[in-house]
Amino acid sequence: MEKREALYAGKAKSVYTTDDPDRLILEFRDDTSAFDGQKVEQLERKGMVNNRFNAFIMDRLKESGIPTHFESLLSDTESVVKRLDMLPVECVVRNYSAGSLCRRLGVEEGLALEPPTFELFLKNDAQHDPMINESLAETFGWATPEQLQLARELTFRVNDVLKKLFLDGGILLVDYKLEFGVFNGEVTLGDEFSPDGCRLWDSTSREKLDKDRFRQGLGGVIEAYEEVGRRIGISFD
Ligand code: C5P
Repeated sequence: MEKREALYAGKAKSVYTTDDPDRLILEFRDDTSAFDGQKVEQLERKGMVNNRFNAFIMDRLKESGIPTHFESLLSDTESVVKRLDMLPVECVVRNYSAGSLCRRLGVEEGLALEPPTFELFLKNDAQHDPMINESLAETFGWATPEQLQLARELTFRVNDVLKKLFLDGGILLVDYKLEFGVFNGEVTLGDEFSPDGCRLWDSTSREKLDKDRFRQGLGGVIEAYEEVGRRIGISFD
């Protein structure tokens, strides 16, 4: 697989074309950002840790029959993925209250949410990723009702697989964000799953083991990501 030109650079990952028109290379960088890119730092080893974390999770999801773009690890910080036509929406499931849900509704952090909630946001930095719904997505052509229905079903199937995987390691999957695209007509999980895009708490102490450590200046960010990884069976050596 030959790396060609840079296609896109996001806040923490870069995407490259390859000699195969249906495959891209995702590079996980050490850059870490929060609050719409207002807080940015380089955290040593983050690219490597998130690349391996994502590969492990995507493999578990694939084993459970969830279509994902992930193909293989290419290097410490790079993976080969299928080239999707991305839907410009973010799908968020919450098992416990935290983050923007608490701010928006004025509820306390840590409430068990039964059933888990599902929210849609528009990927639009200039508008700060506003919350949307299926009606707005259909009217503005961001995704069809059928695509959104599939994305929602897949997002909840991911919850069933990952809630158990993390709980077996003594960790609560509090919430997470997924992005989907279309490959050969099939709605397929894209982007990444790492502690950058989810909340993970120790199930006993409720210590935060995810990007909230960076957002809240708690320190030990990558150490926490590695701790989660070790507890669910990922090796970072
Ligand atoms: O900020 P909020 O509480 O809505 O985030 C819900 C979940 O989605 C969190 O795990 C957060 O890390 C993730 N998220 C993300 N990227 C965004 C927005 C939210 O990874 N742009």
